[in-house]
Amino acid sequence: MITGVGVDMVKIAKMEKSIKRFGQDFIDRVFNEEELKNIFPGKVYYQRLAARFAAKEAVIKAISKKFPLSLKDILILNKENGAPFCIFKKDVDLNIFLSITHIEDYAVACAVAEKKS
Ligand SMILES: CC(C)(COP(=O)(O)OP(=O)(O)OC[C@H]1O[C@@H](n2cnc3c(N)ncnc32)[C@H](O)[C@@H]1OP(=O)(O)O)[C@@H](O)C(=O)NCCC(=O)NCCS
Repeated sequence: MITGVGVDMVKIAKMEKSIKRFGQDFIDRVFNEEELKNIFPGKVYYQRLAARFAAKEAVIKAISKKFPLSLKDILILNKENGAPFCIFKKDVDLNIFLSITHIEDYAVACAVAEKKS
């Protein structure tokens, strides 16, 4: 049963500014090591980080306030074919379906939560 949906949009320039201002501290507060392992500095570096931030916020909206989670409890990873997926560090009784897009200015993510049967 679908229990929630969430969407979020992040401005790439804002993500870039936060990272340049607060550096690794900011990155460590938001992202897990596993999430960063295939994201390399380059043309879409800030886009991909902003997209993951948007994805985490979209997941939080989709699961509502039912599970109190921090951004780092939510892992946004990619399958071998590039498709994003979400897993949790805590025990959460939900499957998440996720979609991400990013361009020069904005990143957008949409998440759908389904109760595990
Ligand atoms: C996967 C695809 C749709 C991504 O679209 P895009 O416009 O290049 O890029 P977007 O910014 O919208 O989306 C990028 C995100 O899509 C997601 N993505 C990548 N592969 C995916 C897949 N197989 N399934 C679902 N999502 C995927 C990723 O999350 C990616 O972001 P990330 O790398 O930071 O995680 C595109 O690369 C693709 O394969 N298109 C098919 C085109 C095609 O076959 N055309 C010919 C027929 S018209």
